[in-house]
Amino acid sequence: MCSHGSIGRRCLLPHIMCGIVGYIGYRNASDVLLDGMHRLEYRGYDSAGIAIRDKDSIGIQKEVGKVSDLEKLVSSMKPGGHQGIGHTRWATHGEVTSLNAHPHTDLRKNVTLVHNGIVENFMELKAELEYSGVSFTTETDTEVIAQLLAQIHHGDAVSSLVELSSRLKGSYAMAILIRDEADRIYCIRKGSPLVLGIGEGESFCASDVPALLPYTKDFIYLDDGDIAELSAAGIKTWNSQGEKISKDVCRVDWDVSMVDKCGYPHFMLKEINEQSRVLRDTLCHRVNSSGIDLSAELTISSAEVAALKKVHIIACGTSYYASLVAERFMENITDLDIRVDIASEYRYRSIVTGKDTLAVFVSQSGETADTLAAERLVKKTGATCIAVTNNPNSTLAREVDHVLQLMAGPEIGVAATKTFSGQLAVLYLLGLFLGKQRGTLSTSQEEKFLSEFANLPYKIDTILMKHEEIRILAEKFADSRNFLFLGRGLSFPIAMEGALKLKEISYIHAEAYAAGEMKHGPIALLDSEVPVVVINPRDELYEKTLSNIQEARARRAPIISVITEGDVVSQKNAQASVSVPATENDLTPFLTVIPLQLFAYYVARHRGCDIDQPRNLAKSVTVE
Ligand code: M6R
Repeated sequence: MCSHGSIGRRCLLPHIMCGIVGYIGYRNASDVLLDGMHRLEYRGYDSAGIAIRDKDSIGIQKEVGKVSDLEKLVSSMKPGGHQGIGHTRWATHGEVTSLNAHPHTDLRKNVTLVHNGIVENFMELKAELEYSGVSFTTETDTEVIAQLLAQIHHGDAVSSLVELSSRLKGSYAMAILIRDEADRIYCIRKGSPLVLGIGEGESFCASDVPALLPYTKDFIYLDDGDIAELSAAGIKTWNSQGEKISKDVCRVDWDVSMVDKCGYPHFMLKEINEQSRVLRDTLCHRVNSSGIDLSAELTISSAEVAALKKVHIIACGTSYYASLVAERFMENITDLDIRVDIASEYRYRSIVTGKDTLAVFVSQSGETADTLAAERLVKKTGATCIAVTNNPNSTLAREVDHVLQLMAGPEIGVAATKTFSGQLAVLYLLGLFLGKQRGTLSTSQEEKFLSEFANLPYKIDTILMKHEEIRILAEKFADSRNFLFLGRGLSFPIAMEGALKLKEISYIHAEAYAAGEMKHGPIALLDSEVPVVVINPRDELYEKTLSNIQEARARRAPIISVITEGDVVSQKNAQASVSVPATENDLTPFLTVIPLQLFAYYVARHRGCDIDQPRNLAKSVTVE
């Protein structure tokens, strides 16, 4: 696989991952937009804005901060229109200012638009426009699009959008108000996600389905280059050449309660508590009386499975840690050469893939830019591509050969929890499927795993019941400035996931190491101020990790251990320990991760952090 140029490397200002919403119909547009934007805040929450069309005028309101800050501003103005667009922004470059917040317009306000993505050639386009006399009020790439479209547009909106997209390089999803197209909103997408919602006498668009769940369950998923016109009467669509097309309408089975907190103080806590349900749902779709059955999703013949030599698993963040756990499991039960890579590294390396490769792309959102880029490169080499995703209509899902869907339901908290368990479960089932097909997994082994799998939801529930014990423990250590997380084997990626959870929601520095590596460097960090969280279930590496605990204790580091119930030795060797029920060695990660999620949650809560929307993060990382 060869290296490719970096998307956005030339882009100085601003890289944006955002949420966009559009509405036209009979309701108060600002109410629908703000409601949808709240549900999209996981995509970005630096600043927000809306544009409402009321008769001939288009009023724009923008505010730095969260959607609730914008809401305060809007409520004092009470805009009355029934048509509008909204945006919640996440910027990695460029200042977070009201000026840079969306919507953006051209100088005459003929075009008003919101945008998610990056226009790579915006500098060139801006220079051209400036040369022709256009002046700019912001430094955003989005204003360049608005000014360019205003210059192009004479007459037919669809032809103007076809021409606009021929001039833009990069990725975008946009909702656009054009002054002389009074009863319509236009949408266009390439690279960035956009869904259209169908209602009775109303139409919607949004970056993601949850934004619109209170209003509709009928969605159209736009493909790259597609253009749409939304009106109260319905939706029309065109392809990138401007040819009229009809698109399938998909009915989603997600319920609006799935995107509510249902009495929990935070989505993260609700989602942690859903993990036993996620496991049950994952299994009930894929296990029957004859064992593992993925035939409804994986139409790979036995001959194709037999011809495989390697499995490459590619992902980012928490999805990467779930993949690392699965790698260790899969190598225990198959004869395949398994490797796991971070997507942003993999895509720039020269890794050989081909027809003998099963490439598994793991992404909760299915929209992560690096994971998508890696998939596009690998697919060209003839590898069989599988998506493991929570979003079966995502860009990733639509591009791969096969989709294994997580049965997690929408995850709103920025910190991934239930989707981690869902990913683990699906990847384990994939491993069992491969082992069975290749004859490296015996029927008795398969039965053993599947029967213990069925017990895991109950075991998870018993750990969740220890939330009070974990809260007290978390509060005791919440003022620590640094943590070290240690584990071996399957517990090493769990240590990484535990450290990631803690740092992303509590902002405490946490580092994870393979327990055996500690003495090769990080041990120098240890003293009585650095708690060491050790994941040490009773497995074949238990004794080894116990020795590492002694090494840390000798440096006076407080030990917090996650252990198997009844392990008195580990209890004696720790300041505090949380026990999980015994299970098969290979299945311990499903249990040991739960106390770590709760620990991070309660530390962050004690510190007063914004748990569901931690600073500087966005749920879907749709730019490189
Ligand atoms: O949607 P994806 O699974 O591709 O997202 C990957 C990461 O961005 C994500 O797991 C991130 O690390 C989470 N904030 C972790 O809690």
